[in-house]
Amino acid sequence: MSETVRVLLSEEEVDNRIQELGSMISRDYDGKQVHLICVLKGGVFFTCELAKRITVPVSLDFMSVSSYGDDTKSSGVVKIVKDLDESIENKDVIVVEDIVDSGRTLSYLLDNLRSRKPKSLRLCTLLDKPERRVKEVDVTYTGFQIPDEFVVGYGLDYAQRYRNLPYIGIVELD
Ligand code: IMP
Ligand code: MG
Repeated sequence: MSETVRVLLSEEEVDNRIQELGSMISRDYDGKQVHLICVLKGGVFFTCELAKRITVPVSLDFMSVSSYGDDTKSSGVVKIVKDLDESIENKDVIVVEDIVDSGRTLSYLLDNLRSRKPKSLRLCTLLDKPERRVKEVDVTYTGFQIPDEFVVGYGLDYAQRYRNLPYIGIVELD
């Protein structure tokens, strides 16, 4: 069986949209500093590209979470594998994620971060699969809404591969 990756969103489309998101955030946070929290590993490519396009002062921190449950279904019980290095108290925080799927992971993560008393807390995701939502998640900045397909690239993996693709693709097994 071989795998091919069909392009869903080209490198140019993704780059253009990230530029738009960066402009939106720069406008919304005018006069402030934004503290970006990158959710590893999937959020790392998007976070870097987004951060470069934000014109207000930016600070960065990283967090890594894993959800208990099998590979295909997250249980909503999330383990913090790597916590933030710095306090977020009184900061204007934006959590940067690759994709919101069922919403279980982010719903847990946002509740956890909210309890640490940031001044504000928003979510920015490159991709959103609204059809799959089980847990309500308030997303302020969305790159693209996509259909219920398994996608890779721009940080997203299939068995840890394809994260480095500069576009978003759909894995086809044939
Ligand atoms: P959920 O929102 O708790 O269901 O989990 C979201 C996580 O599942 C994301 O952060 C991804 O790591 C992973 N995920 C969901 N959909 C996809 C996909 O289409 N491709 C690759 N990873 C995905
Ligand atoms: Mg992720």
